[in-house]
Amino acid sequence: RSGGKCRAVAENGVTDPILLRVARGEEAERTPVWLMRQAGRFMADFRKYSDRIGFRERSETSEIAIELSLQPWRAFKPDGVIMFSDILTPLPALGIEFDVIKGKGPIIPVPVRSLDQVKALRTMDDPASTLPFVAETLSALRKEIDEQATLLGFVGTPWTLAAYAMEGKADKHLLKTKTIMYHDPATLHAFLDHLTEALIAYVCFQIESGAQVVQLFDSWAHHLSPTQFEEFSRPYAERVLQAVKAKHPSVPLIFHANGGTGKLLQMTPLSSDVLGLDWNTEMREARALYGPKRVLQGNVDPMILLAPEEVIREEVSRTLADGGDQHLILNVGHGVIQQTPEEAVGLFCQLARESHRARTPV
Ligand code: CP3
Repeated sequence: RSGGKCRAVAENGVTDPILLRVARGEEAERTPVWLMRQAGRFMADFRKYSDRIGFRERSETSEIAIELSLQPWRAFKPDGVIMFSDILTPLPALGIEFDVIKGKGPIIPVPVRSLDQVKALRTMDDPASTLPFVAETLSALRKEIDEQATLLGFVGTPWTLAAYAMEGKADKHLLKTKTIMYHDPATLHAFLDHLTEALIAYVCFQIESGAQVVQLFDSWAHHLSPTQFEEFSRPYAERVLQAVKAKHPSVPLIFHANGGTGKLLQMTPLSSDVLGLDWNTEMREARALYGPKRVLQGNVDPMILLAPEEVIREEVSRTLADGGDQHLILNVGHGVIQQTPEEAVGLFCQLARESHRARTPV
């Protein structure tokens, strides 16, 4: 946790964008905001693309990915622009193919379930040639937003990607992965190790292409007990965090676990600059546990964006009050859903922009 307070103005005299400053541990004039899945089907402009063009083509054609990343920024002016991509996007570079089926979600037609399959995987040697669109998208976005917002890259954690690739699809019980976890843990650990090395290279590649902050999504942490989290997720995520930090010490990293609420203590030692909280977590309890200086992100229930305006205002105020004036990034506690009214996302962003007023004594 870098924590310096006086780096708001860079050497060239340009002020760094507020989300970047807060993620780095600095104090700021208000609470910054972005939303997980802000680039998505709740926007009519997005659906013009998603109705016509499949997910892989949309996310792997840089002109389209750039446009889809910018749509929510143009409409609602969140403080972060997250690249339009997916946590599964790097898998084909390792030899694991995937597709996203409308109404069903991602599928991996040939799941990875044996040690021989793990040993046959490719390494992430040259992302510039296997994933060129990621670099094109990030570098163009960085130019386009020009320090008016912070550009976010992201990856899935080793655990979440291993579970996706072993399962082949979302499964309520994570049947295949957990069977392997108990009968053949060496294969799971070998796969996690392989993904860890690949993700270190991939996160560095995103940073070198222009990402200013990178979030690690541990989306399937809810499938793990706190003890399992300590064996199968945290050590590998921590290796990614530390290796990226060693190479890019000034780039803030966010760790967000879906299902982190039962693992608040287990997340304490993570060396991410920011801890993302899911919406099941009581912000007040998390703040008390982690102390006033730890940067927290979250954690409004995304479903409240479907509630009447007063309810949205109330919930956001409560999160802002419980999270504290400093060291907080307002976000939802899980991705925005398709049925969310666009105005509600606009209001959510506006409430963060107005957070400095509430702070000024009258
Ligand atoms: O946040 C953003 O706006 C950036 C875009 C983004 C997408 N996926 C685009 C996407 C991000 C950050 C992700 C991450 C992601 N992908 C996660 C982590 C976040 C979380 O929800 O915990 C996970 C678990 C995935 C895997 C995945 N990919 C799912 C569950 C789905 C949705 C399946 C469905 O049909 O609802 C996808 C596909 C996907 N990735 C969509 C979007 C907007 C929806 C399908 C489409 O646009 O065609």
